[in-house]
Amino acid sequence: MKIAVLGTGYVGLVTAVGLAEFGHSVVGADKVADKIGRIRRGEIPFYEPGLDALLGTALRKGSLSFSDDLPATIRAANVIFVCVGTPQGDDGSADMAQIEEVSRLIAENLNGYKVIVEKSTVPVMTSVWIKRTISLYKKSEAEFDVASNPEFLREGSAVGDFLQPDRIIIGVESERARELMLRIYHRHRDRILVTNIDTAELIKHASNSFLALKISYINLMANLCERTQADVELVAKGMGLDPRIGSRFLKAGIGFGGSCFPKDLKALIKIGEDLGVDMSLLKETDRINQARVRLLLDKLKAALWILRDKTIAVLGLAFKPETDDIREAPSIRIIQALLDEGARIRLYDPKAADNMRELFPEDGVRVVYAASPAAATEGANAALVCTEWPEFLDLDLTDVKGRMANPILIDGRNLYDPAAVQALGFEYFSIGRK
Ligand code: UDX
Repeated sequence: MKIAVLGTGYVGLVTAVGLAEFGHSVVGADKVADKIGRIRRGEIPFYEPGLDALLGTALRKGSLSFSDDLPATIRAANVIFVCVGTPQGDDGSADMAQIEEVSRLIAENLNGYKVIVEKSTVPVMTSVWIKRTISLYKKSEAEFDVASNPEFLREGSAVGDFLQPDRIIIGVESERARELMLRIYHRHRDRILVTNIDTAELIKHASNSFLALKISYINLMANLCERTQADVELVAKGMGLDPRIGSRFLKAGIGFGGSCFPKDLKALIKIGEDLGVDMSLLKETDRINQARVRLLLDKLKAALWILRDKTIAVLGLAFKPETDDIREAPSIRIIQALLDEGARIRLYDPKAADNMRELFPEDGVRVVYAASPAAATEGANAALVCTEWPEFLDLDLTDVKGRMANPILIDGRNLYDPAAVQALGFEYFSIGRK
């Protein structure tokens, strides 16, 4: 079996490396030649723990290679994983232009039976369009099948998620495609759920939107806790003890970001509305999430009154720890709001600072990137924690307090123990607890 992976972004690269690790012969292809050149040298354009080592091993063994010749890669493969981007369009729906482009290319190079696997997150019923596009442009009589095999990769643990998955969803319409897909994942047969294609596509959006809903739900409870004597951490703990609820994804904070939850939620709302389904539940999930940033700023204003010309340290820029990804990170909206208020910001993140620099370039006055949390908090009127990097737990808070102009700590991720931080002399504000 020869596998092609089209698109060498985050999902494509992890998929290509993972499939090679499963023992398959894989070619990763991308039309951006420069990108392919760098990957061939073992350079990964993003930070993902463990991926570089596996990439190096697969390249050395020869089970994985890379090409910028998409037509040749398509012709040589019998299974093609489509991992190109589906960015968010203006109306919230996913922009499917890259999927359409790749479908046409597959059609033009269809030289024998192939299974085309949707790996990128796509709206339910995308397979119908892929099938139609390939049928429309194909030049041969060769047959093909479309399959859906959604990715469930969490940034920071994507390698483990691929190699030891909780579940593998395979949506197929023919026995031939089913057999091929089962062979690809033979190592994990016990974890495979085979469905029709629409179901597989929907499982992906339904899962991510449910997790987003769970986070907005606990954030709503946090709002209630702030107006009572209840403590959201204990509310979450108590709820999580019920196995029907489970304790994961019940961490209150400044809300969810990343390349998946916000985008998938909006895409599912759009799909539902287009199909005439009332999507208010998910719209509210999104609205609650959007409001989290305001909440943090209100806490800051309650402490400092006027933010103009105040120096604010922002600790943590990535949308979550163990990644350099800032896509849809709550920190972006916080930084923008602080700048709109006329504040001076000092930014620190162990991995994501370079990415943030592209959005908010350093100007030496309003926007300064610090090399350490200590440097970021030097002379600051307040510090905001936006990402729960483990290293922030090891901070010498006494030292930090000594550096700050005002020892005001606003913790958007409930990282610290309120009593301990207050005992050090900080004015400490966190989420949904006193
Ligand atoms: C997610 C899904 O988990 C993964 O299965 C999927 O296919 C891709 O999207 P990822 O975006 O990498 O993965 O991050 P995840 O760990 O799910 O966190 C998403 C966001 O939710 C982060 O901003 C995180 O800070 C936030 N979050 C998560 C909370 O605010 N509270 C929680 O309890 C959990």
